[in-house]
Amino acid sequence: MNIGLRQAISRKEQKLESRIFCLKNGPVRVYGAVDIEDANGRHTITTSMVHELCRCGASRVAPFCDGSHENISFVSE
Ligand code: FES
Repeated sequence: MNIGLRQAISRKEQKLESRIFCLKNGPVRVYGAVDIEDANGRHTITTSMVHELCRCGASRVAPFCDGSHENISFVSE
């Protein structure tokens, strides 16, 4: 990646309030305060800056990850 493009991306990232990472064989990690709406329309406005959201379907505290993905050997890809 050239330096100009890298600097442009860096400047763009600095303006973002949240960032999302899909962890290999695990949850989606969200950095930043967000408003999470579940399938029933309930909102959770997060106050901490790091959250992990389940994407394996096994969590007992959905939409958040409770580590159950390890028990079912979840494979993300
Ligand atoms: S991704 Fe962790 S419990 Fe589903």
